[in-house]
Amino acid sequence: MKQRKILVTSALPYANGDIHLGHVMEAIQADIWVRLQKMRGHQCIYVCADDAHGTAIMLGAESQGITAEELIDRVNREHRRDYEGFLVGFDNFHTTHSAENRQLCESIYLALEGNGHIARRKVRQLFDPEKQLFLADRYITGTCPHCGAEGQYGDNCEVCGSTYSPAELLEPKSVLSGATPVEKESEHFFFTVSAFGEMLREWIRSGAVCESVANKLDEWLEEGIKDWDISRDAPYFGFEIPGHPGKYFYVWLDAPIGYMASFLKLCQREGLDFDSWWRPGGDHELYHFIGKDIINFHAFFWPAMLASAGYRTPDAIFVHGFVTVDGTKMSKSRGTFINAATYLEHLDPEYLRYYLATKLGPGIEDLDLNLDDFVQRVNSDLVGKLVNIASRCAGFIGKNFDGMLAPALDNEALFEQTCRAAAEIAEFLEQREYGKAMRLVMALADQANQYLNERKPWEIAKADRQSAELQRVCSTGINVFRVLAGYLKPVLPALAQRAERFLNIEPLRWGDLDTPLLGHRIERFQPLMRRVEPAAVAAMLEQSRRAWSEPGETAGATAAEAATEAIAEQIGIETFAKVDLRVARVIEAELVEGADKLLRLRLDLGVDRQGGALERSVFAGIRSAYAPERLRDRLVVVVANLKPRKMKFGVSEGMILAAGPGGEDIWLLQADSGAKPGMRIA
Ligand code: MSP
Ligand code: ZN
Repeated sequence: MKQRKILVTSALPYANGDIHLGHVMEAIQADIWVRLQKMRGHQCIYVCADDAHGTAIMLGAESQGITAEELIDRVNREHRRDYEGFLVGFDNFHTTHSAENRQLCESIYLALEGNGHIARRKVRQLFDPEKQLFLADRYITGTCPHCGAEGQYGDNCEVCGSTYSPAELLEPKSVLSGATPVEKESEHFFFTVSAFGEMLREWIRSGAVCESVANKLDEWLEEGIKDWDISRDAPYFGFEIPGHPGKYFYVWLDAPIGYMASFLKLCQREGLDFDSWWRPGGDHELYHFIGKDIINFHAFFWPAMLASAGYRTPDAIFVHGFVTVDGTKMSKSRGTFINAATYLEHLDPEYLRYYLATKLGPGIEDLDLNLDDFVQRVNSDLVGKLVNIASRCAGFIGKNFDGMLAPALDNEALFEQTCRAAAEIAEFLEQREYGKAMRLVMALADQANQYLNERKPWEIAKADRQSAELQRVCSTGINVFRVLAGYLKPVLPALAQRAERFLNIEPLRWGDLDTPLLGHRIERFQPLMRRVEPAAVAAMLEQSRRAWSEPGETAGATAAEAATEAIAEQIGIETFAKVDLRVARVIEAELVEGADKLLRLRLDLGVDRQGGALERSVFAGIRSAYAPERLRDRLVVVVANLKPRKMKFGVSEGMILAAGPGGEDIWLLQADSGAKPGMRIA
């Protein structure tokens, strides 16, 4: 077989947050694929790096009182440790804040500029006069120009769903300083992606992305791609654009170049020829594993940049969906926003590698980590089926035959049948149909267990503990186990290594699996894998929940999230006392047509002075967290003296208070808190 030369990357995690199960899933998906290629004798190189630039990282470091360099160095160590903990075998893990990346960014930029693919245009943007920086949309809040909802971010209203330019926000405030932003003009540099429409269309249809992604991209192309703003003004943590002091490369320009830079660093260390991998015309392959949220960067800007700068384009972009836990988005309050390090404190990384493999396919559907199913699947497949084959046979070989396997198998057909699946399993793995591959391996494991059930080595041993038949039966089991451990090696490298030690063999390679071990001495059997304890899963969730709920704790929150918590201008107690906060009971809640974040609530605020029922109708942007029927009879806190406001969907006669990061995590008062409708909260 011809040796392929393959370069693989996974997306560069931002250097201001912890590695979590989403990142881990992506890296495991890529790592399984890479390990398969290596095991089959191909030259396959897997690189990654931290995505270390940008405003968020600059501000994150500032709020922690350290330099950006200190921040990214610390995080880089943590990220390496976390990936290693999950047995992700990068050939190099670098950072975009490196000499190699600077050199490549500059030369690529100069090539784009030389080719006339850089345009300069004046851009008017909101500017924070106190912090002296331009504000990205997420750093601006204000009142929605359409419905009047306050505290809306950047360019879209969470309450009425309308979109606008940040400059249209009423009473805009900088999230960073509270200052009123001013409009300011500055010159920006644009990459003229629009010149690459034809090239991109062709590339997309070359099989570079799967059908569904290709269709989406075609749609976007039809709508027309706008030129891409690749510059940011100082202060910015990144690389200055050569020849243009005070102008920096936008982080998303230098991030994908970081793939090349990480590889360049590896070339320098190991004497590889960079150009033969990156210039067009060679037979080297290039693949990027990414999540569905960053498709446009990888399928439009990146190939166009590469093409303009005289580099090859990727052979394919392998796009995956998002990890959910127990059916919903990872949630900090439920403890299901699980960091890599938290998982590793409680559970074996290979449990997750295997479980993800059973559920992974080549598509972009989300992947659910169902924790009950996780425990059950790992225990039943790995411990109950796979390892069981070895443990049922190993004792007899060890004790009765001094570790010596028989010179012949009892059931050659079973062994051969197991081996014949190699091509199909390899093809499934190659196509990223990991779930199908795992099912096939487990069907083979079932067969082997079935065989042992029928041959009953323990019965044979009762009759004659040293019979040649017993040795041959157990040797058959162990040989089948060896092949299966080989098939699973890309997924379970540590288990495979323990199996290699137990079998007393050289590292398993795909091409050698069908040669049985005969007349060969194996080592004493050691347990190869322990069962997953449900208690360990519960402990992990509990620790995760606590980590996110500690007061003032923003660990892992991005700088943008942390920044939004900046305290607003002070108010006196007199001002605060004017706010009439009441407990109210939800009489009824209903969806609001045309507003997918909004619910209309009818509230019971007790009785007024005349004894009449006091009711209010308010709109609340809490639909992402509450189905209307869950709200009936629920107690909430309401600002009772807020002036009625006319909104797009009707008049809102108050506002309910809630806390939480948003999405599904929005907390209201507990139903059993002992409060009564109408009670004033002091
Ligand atoms: N820094 C950019 C990528 C630059 S690549 C040149 C970025 N970083 S990220 O940390 O936000 O995400 C890194 C990768 O993790 C992306 O591919 C993203 O899709 C993936 N995931 C982040 N959360 C995820 C889940 N919950 N589930 C699966 N993958 C997700 O984007
Ligand atoms: Zn609005």
